[in-house]
Amino acid sequence: MKEKLRIAFVGCGQFCRNFVPLFKAHPAVEFVAVCDKFPERAKNFKEWYGADMIFDSFDDVIASSEINAVAIFTQRDLHGVMAIAALKAGKHVYSAVPMALKTEEIQEIVRLVKETGLTYMMGETGIYRPASIFCRQKYATGEMGEMVYAEAQYNHDMKRLYDVFKYTEGDKWKMMAGLPPMLYPTHSTSMVLSAAKAHAIKVAAFGYEDKMDTDIFGEGMNYWDNPFSNTAMLLKLSNNAVIRISENRRVAWHFPETYITSFNCTKASYECSLVQHSYLTMNEKGLVDYEDVSDLLNPMELTPHKNDPDFLKKVVNGTWCNTEAPIQAITRLPKEFDGLGTGHAGTHKFMVDDFCQAYMSGKLSPTNAWQAARYNLPGLTAHKSAMEGGITLDVPDCGDTPEGMEVLSADRIVNEVDYR
Ligand SMILES: NC(=O)c1ccc[n+]([C@@H]2O[C@H](COP(=O)([O-])OP(=O)(O)OC[C@H]3O[C@@H](n4cnc5c(N)ncnc54)[C@H](O)[C@@H]3O)[C@@H](O)[C@H]2O)c1
Repeated sequence: MKEKLRIAFVGCGQFCRNFVPLFKAHPAVEFVAVCDKFPERAKNFKEWYGADMIFDSFDDVIASSEINAVAIFTQRDLHGVMAIAALKAGKHVYSAVPMALKTEEIQEIVRLVKETGLTYMMGETGIYRPASIFCRQKYATGEMGEMVYAEAQYNHDMKRLYDVFKYTEGDKWKMMAGLPPMLYPTHSTSMVLSAAKAHAIKVAAFGYEDKMDTDIFGEGMNYWDNPFSNTAMLLKLSNNAVIRISENRRVAWHFPETYITSFNCTKASYECSLVQHSYLTMNEKGLVDYEDVSDLLNPMELTPHKNDPDFLKKVVNGTWCNTEAPIQAITRLPKEFDGLGTGHAGTHKFMVDDFCQAYMSGKLSPTNAWQAARYNLPGLTAHKSAMEGGITLDVPDCGDTPEGMEVLSADRIVNEVDYR
């Protein structure tokens, strides 16, 4: 029996608080530590979630023999360097998205995971979202034919980012708000690319130059001299399809945050508008059959409210968006998760369980280093394209998962490893 996970959380901020209780409850985990550069935050986490230990610094975390895994929940620019340092110190790594903001860091993580055989998982919500599961499963059966085109986007208005980051150090929230949108592309890329079972080979992108917050966007105003709040990219995929991905941070939109608008193939298509999910198939007479798959894909807490007078108004303001949908295989989750909170369309429990299952089974996680690289690198290259007026660029690739390494399926309906 493999030793259980002894995991340290680095970055006790907003997002991390959703995950400590889940890891702590998971039967593959026996020890949970916390660390934040503001000691008060780590102290609060220890009290709130009953963590076993506090580390004073990230350096102490990776030097410690008390733990065998690190969960990185710091700000986006730190994920790459911290993952690299943790892997070099022999720790398994769970990292919040994005994988890293630099191509070289992504390549280094892939190299280290290959060299060490350690478990790495980028905790990406997109692939566990119902629409991604639906397109992935339908396309894999072959009944949709050849993929030709798809569209996805992540809409997250700046005001909501301000609200999160204004509570962090000094004016860092301003700097984070100025992050080039395409350096955080994984929610939308992962939804489509995991369904397509393909990766991007070429990209061209354009950005929306934001003139509203001149103290955030433009030369000298953020870490990246980034002028864009929104960027859209067109990608040519390895399977010949073309996709459009948009990352919008200045948009009057609240929910759904990340979604596939269309996934078009030669024999069938998935289409979505708000909470209306449609599956269209071409029949033998050349006519199109229609199937309403909304109840399968919408959160279970939403469907009973379909006839409420203010139904769509509540939907667009994010009501009923957090529980699982019938398409998500909740029965495979450990019973210890019962009654605990989830989030982002019911995805949190799946991410935690898949990291633990990957570690225990010795398989690669669904969002392993190679796959994560393919969700991140198109965005990094798209930002360069947008900064150069939309030129077409080749997307770097770290290749397929090495031969002989098995990947844990995110769509399994029963778990593989008995933890006890
Ligand atoms: N849907 C999603 O997948 C999703 C949603 C929200 C956030 N995120 C990701 O989660 C990460 C955290 O987001 P957040 O909203 O919790 O941010 P946050 O600013 O609330 O929390 C980050 C924490 O990291 C701490 N920190 C920074 N540097 C540190 C260091 N060197 N050592 C120890 N602690 C350090 C900060 O003090 C802060 O408490 C972000 O990178 C974001 O990309 C992902």
